[in-house]
Amino acid sequence: MSKLITLQTPLDMHLHLRDAQMLQLVAPLTAKTFSGALVMPNLVPPVTTKEALLAYKQRICNAAGDEKFEPYMTLFFQHYSYDFLKEVKEHIIGIKLYPAGITTNSETGVSSLDSETLRPTLEAMSELGIPLCVHGETNGFVMDREKEFMPIYASLAEAFPKLKIIMEHITTKAAVDLLDKYDNLFATITVQHLLITLDDVAGGMLKPHLFCKPIAKRYEDRSALQKVALSAHPKVMFGSDSAPHPKHKKESCGCAAGVFTAPIALQILAQFFDKYKSLENLQAFISDNALNIYGITPPKKEVTLIQKEFIVPQSYDNFGETVVPMYAGETITWSIVE
Ligand code: DOR
Ligand code: ZN
Repeated sequence: MSKLITLQTPLDMHLHLRDAQMLQLVAPLTAKTFSGALVMPNLVPPVTTKEALLAYKQRICNAAGDEKFEPYMTLFFQHYSYDFLKEVKEHIIGIKLYPAGITTNSETGVSSLDSETLRPTLEAMSELGIPLCVHGETNGFVMDREKEFMPIYASLAEAFPKLKIIMEHITTKAAVDLLDKYDNLFATITVQHLLITLDDVAGGMLKPHLFCKPIAKRYEDRSALQKVALSAHPKVMFGSDSAPHPKHKKESCGCAAGVFTAPIALQILAQFFDKYKSLENLQAFISDNALNIYGITPPKKEVTLIQKEFIVPQSYDNFGETVVPMYAGETITWSIVE
C-alpha cells in the first residue's frame, strides 16, 4: 500500500507572485494547493500605499480564480507614520524589510539598519501588533552575509521585545542558533534550503534554476535547518520564497536570483519528511506553526499526498510566460491526489 498524508490548510508564508502575465501564470499554481500565502511586496514600484496594496490583492484574487485562497498582504518597509499603519493594519499581515539593493527589486530598501533610525516605525508596528519580516543579509562576502546579519537581528529583537520579527528564508546554522535566544524571533525555511547546498548550485555545472538569495550554504548549515524543520520547531514555518523569473532571465549571462518551487513544494516536502521518518511533523511545519505565530484563520482546505512518482514539468507556460521549476524533468516520489 502506498503511503498517504492529508494536510489541513497548507500555508506558504513567503511567496513572490509578481504581477501582470506572470501573476496570471503563477497564482493559480499556489492557490490550487495552498489555503493562503504571505505575499511579498517587491514589485516595481514596491507596494507602499494602501491603494496599491488593495489593488494588488484584488489582482491576486482575480488571478487565483475560484480557489479558496487568502493572499496575506505585506507592505514594503519604509518609514511609515503611526496613523498610516493604524489605517492599513487590517489589510496587512506584516511589513517586509529589505536592506537596500540586497536582492531583486530592493533598490529602495533600507540603507541604515540601526535600531534608533528605525525606531519610529518599528515602535508603531510593535504597538499595533504588526510583524516585521526581514531579508537578513549584509552586503559582505556572499557566504557570510546571513551570518553577519545576526547581530542586527539580535539588536532589533532586544530593542523591540514586543515586535514579532521573522527571519525570512534562513540558510545558516547561525540563524537556527539565534532563534531560541529571543522570544520574539521566528523564521521561515524554503524547500530548496532543506535540500541543497552550494555544491548543488555551483559545485559542478552551474545550475541557474537553483540560484537564489540567500544562496544555499554548507552541509552543516543544511543539517541545522533540516533538524528544526523535521522536528517542526514551533518558531519555524514553511515559506517557499518561490520566486518566478522568466526562463530567459534565468538562463542568461547575469542570472536573476530566485528558485521557482510553488507547484512542487508540497510534493518535495512530503518526500523529504517521509525520507527522515517525520511525516507526522509536516502538518505543523506547513500550517499549524504559522497559524500560531501569525494568529490567522485561513480558508479550510485539505490536500492529500500519496507516495507515487511524479515527473516535474520542464516548464510552466501560459499567458506568454515560461518559468522553469526546481527539479524540472526529474522524478519526485510523492504526488498530489487530484
Ligand atoms: O532569490 C531571491 N529572489 N531572493 C529574494 O530575496 C528575492 C527573490 C525575488 O524576488 O526574485
Ligand atoms: Zn523572497
